[in-house]
Amino acid sequence: MEATQAEQKYHFEVVRWFTIAAVVYLVVGTLVGDYVAWELAFPALNLDMAELSFGRLRPLHTNAVIFAFGGCVLMATGFYSVQRTCGTALWSNKLAWFAFWGWNVIIVLAVITLPLGLTSGKEYAELEWPIDVLIAVVWLSYSINFIMTVAIRKTSHIYVSNWFFMGMMVMITYLHVVNSLAIPVELFKSYSVFSGVQDAMIQWWWGHNAVGFYLTAGFLGIMYYFVPKQAGRPVFSYRLSVIHFWALMFGYVWLGAHHLQYTALPDWTGSLGAAVSLAMIIPSWGGAINGMMTLSGAWDKLRDDYVLRFLIMSLAFYAMSTFEGPVMSSKTVNALSHYTDWTVGHVHSGALGWVAMVACGALYHMIMKLWNTEMYSAKLVNLHFWMATIGAVVYITAMWVSGIMQGLMWRDYDEFGTLTYTFAESVAAMHPYYTMRAVGGLIYWAGGVVMLYNVIMTVRQAAPVKSGSAAPASA
Ligand code: HEM
Ligand code: HEM
Repeated sequence: MEATQAEQKYHFEVVRWFTIAAVVYLVVGTLVGDYVAWELAFPALNLDMAELSFGRLRPLHTNAVIFAFGGCVLMATGFYSVQRTCGTALWSNKLAWFAFWGWNVIIVLAVITLPLGLTSGKEYAELEWPIDVLIAVVWLSYSINFIMTVAIRKTSHIYVSNWFFMGMMVMITYLHVVNSLAIPVELFKSYSVFSGVQDAMIQWWWGHNAVGFYLTAGFLGIMYYFVPKQAGRPVFSYRLSVIHFWALMFGYVWLGAHHLQYTALPDWTGSLGAAVSLAMIIPSWGGAINGMMTLSGAWDKLRDDYVLRFLIMSLAFYAMSTFEGPVMSSKTVNALSHYTDWTVGHVHSGALGWVAMVACGALYHMIMKLWNTEMYSAKLVNLHFWMATIGAVVYITAMWVSGIMQGLMWRDYDEFGTLTYTFAESVAAMHPYYTMRAVGGLIYWAGGVVMLYNVIMTVRQAAPVKSGSAAPASA
């Protein structure tokens, strides 16, 4: 009865579709990732086809995991939590459906254009200009709907998760628009309005902030809603969460230049980027500790709440990658780590450990609430948890070893001042680690398949109660 009232009060159907799409895209995006990982270990796997080559499939992987999977997660969790925390239905259900179909059209266009080699060549912004315009329109429809829902809220204050979501929306809108400014020459070819050093600087201003606002601030919004909900306890320190929010918003925008140390950029920009990066340890760890301490006094919950395990483990990875990032941004460490697999390892400790784990925890939580049921198999949730954790650790460890080895081999000189190793020798030395990474990725991907199976079975068993399928109406 209570559940039916919640269903009438909120717009949950669109959230259900985003949720299922997110699980499907997790499996697809990591499958492409693992395929390119095997290609790096065994290049013959490109089957001599341009469409299957590493250069074309790599951006397909990054777009699939960041925008298809990550985007659907952010839209599902955003539209779900904003309704619950504001005690009101979405401002516009129609606009939410527009966001769902629009986002999926963009994903289909990416799947077609990227393997064909139609790309603007900007990292994490590869899609050509007509798709960029569509992204801006759909993203704005999501943002405006979210912000208007907050505006018509029935509660007196705005819960902190909504601040993180709104911060992400504002920043990503203008980052995407500025970075994508280009002069079209054909339907699928354009040239950036920026050139040379300015282009590089704008690219990494976007690139790092896609990490900072999309993969971090947005997913922190998820953390601040779902960790307390799943733990059944209030967030450890509300005050700390507000400090965390403002420090992230003001800090992250300065970091982009740490991707361009020792390049044609003025030296001081790299130093500034490194200095602010180091300072970012403080708010990042404050946030991670805030999330973890929400369990203070109730750690025993981790024994049998497997969904909570995902959420808490993700915070451990968040803390780890936000320690590693600032270390890598210092010029001395960057001289070794840049251009190597260490960066790829860092990326995936954030992506596999933090982003995807917190997302899976939130998705499991929502599935149970949205279909008003328990998961088909709690044991399979636990199995997924271990596969994700082991897969991520194997991946990251392989990349640390190969990355540091690469860096050391490239800088090694003999007594005559000539390089000890040729580049090809360093490539050959990577082979065992590339295989190990691909095996870790396979385990991680298979965990996603377990999740998809569990979700399908859960939804099928819950289908008969769909009309009343929602959680209790409290935020
Ligand atoms: C089974 C899981 C995954 C595997 C096996 C995998 C594999 C790979 C591989 C082989 C690359 C190319 C590395 C290179 O250029 O040397 C890559 C790049 C990347 N992947 Fe993944 N990936 C996985 C999951 C994810 C997820 C879930 C995310 C994000 C949420 C992600 C984000 C990225 C990013 C941002 C890059 C570009 C890294 C850079 O430029 O340094 N990956 N991945
Ligand atoms: C305070 C937090 C962080 C700092 C200061 C930081 C710093 C860095 C640095 C210095 C690099 C290497 C730049 C280079 O040599 O090219 C890097 C790369 C990267 N980081 Fe982080 N990082 C942080 C957190 C994260 C998190 C949480 C994620 C993932 C969710 C992440 C994702 C990435 C990605 C995708 C790249 C690769 C960019 C590329 O070359 O394609 N970072 N980060």
